[in-house]
Amino acid sequence: MKTAIYPGSFDPVTLGHLDIIKRASGLFDKLIIGILVNPNKIPLFSLEERISMLREVTREIPNIEITSFEGLLVDYCRMNQIDGIIRGVRGAMDFDYELPMAQINQSLFPKTQTVFLAASPEYSYISSSGVKELASFGGDYTGMVPEEVAVRMKEKDTK
Ligand code: PNS
Repeated sequence: MKTAIYPGSFDPVTLGHLDIIKRASGLFDKLIIGILVNPNKIPLFSLEERISMLREVTREIPNIEITSFEGLLVDYCRMNQIDGIIRGVRGAMDFDYELPMAQINQSLFPKTQTVFLAASPEYSYISSSGVKELASFGGDYTGMVPEEVAVRMKEKDTK
């Protein structure tokens, strides 16, 4: 059985993330969505809220597990026998950021291979930070996140 992890902050999960989740879930027997608990960042959504939103938007995908992790991703991969790390790439800037990270992970734990998925063009401009910035200025982000997330965003004081 082949297992992959799709790690990230998912603050909040966007339609771009969801597209990668759907496509990656077809490539592996099990896809773990791993939310990084980063003590250096104050998220908009708590860990519990992010888990709950991810559960809602992936409820129809059978081979998904949602979890959180702290520390190095490769340590999680080593302890949980993860075969692949999934990362979506929207453009050259993503690639410049992702390549050294994949190379560091590869040097630390070569058993887990990073798999890059090209973002679908219709989602390649979407980012969680863009969505949050739009929300903070009262802009319309509804086509960028799943409906369930848009509802939660409206409930939050994003200003
Ligand atoms: O969605 P993000 O915030 O771009 O995801 C970044 C993430 C979580 C994949 C990355 O920061 C990560 O793996 N952090 C854990 C610490 C680690 O293992 N870093 C890689 C070695 S430099």
